[in-house]
Amino acid sequence: MALNLVIFGPPGAGKGTQSEALRDKYNLEHLSTGDMLREAVKNGTETGLLAKQYMEGGKLVPDEVVIKIISDKVATIAADRGTLFDGFPRTLDQAAALDKALEGNGRKIDAVVFLNVPDEEVVTRLCGRRMCPACNAIYHVTGKPPKKEGVCDNEGAALIQRADDNETVIRQRLDTYHSQTQPVIDYYGKKNLLKEVGLTGSPQETSRKIFEYLD
Ligand code: AP5
Repeated sequence: MALNLVIFGPPGAGKGTQSEALRDKYNLEHLSTGDMLREAVKNGTETGLLAKQYMEGGKLVPDEVVIKIISDKVATIAADRGTLFDGFPRTLDQAAALDKALEGNGRKIDAVVFLNVPDEEVVTRLCGRRMCPACNAIYHVTGKPPKKEGVCDNEGAALIQRADDNETVIRQRLDTYHSQTQPVIDYYGKKNLLKEVGLTGSPQETSRKIFEYLD
């Protein structure tokens, strides 16, 4: 049976890192609204031009924009293909829209993995994060360095630092998370779908806990 998951948490909680592990283990289609929006910005599309200002300021892109992106994408995925939603939903309206989009072809969210990481840990993680611009692989200068400094292990591309990974914008992203995204925890809590994973020693230990729960 197809597994439909949400990976949820504050910026820098490790959603992208755990998505790589979950996608590979359960053969899921990985949908990251952050990656989709960055791609739109890079390509200079109408959506990208609109989204850029919100992303650079650590604010949420308007609901109608991200709901359309996700609903259009969901409609293209075969009903028997499991899907992993990363960075979506981030508001109550987005959560309701996701339920509706999935219902459209007889699907529903099976579990929501909540990575609960405190603010100061988020700042440390994001200030040291580096990304591959070609394959979106995620590194950390001390926690997960590439084999060769500054170069992606998969693609050989020069790693970059995201424009929103500076301390001022990181703190704004955290404020946005606490005021607009945290209510989504209750939404899924009431549906009995939430699995909270707190701080663990390493990404591998976090994956182990998540797999144990899902298996
Ligand atoms: P998005 O790209 O989704 O950013 P985010 O939610 O801020 O999350 P991040 O990608 O920064 O972090 P992550 O949780 O994936 O952590 P990662 O695994 O990389 O969104 C960007 C922007 O787009 C938003 O601000 C908004 O403007 C817009 N947007 C996106 N979706 C939207 C939506 N639905 N609605 C409206 N607007 C939207 O890990 C971080 C670092 O920590 C890495 O260096 C990693 O190596 C390290 N790390 C990971 N796990 C561990 C661990 N267990 N221990 C130690 N280090 C670890």
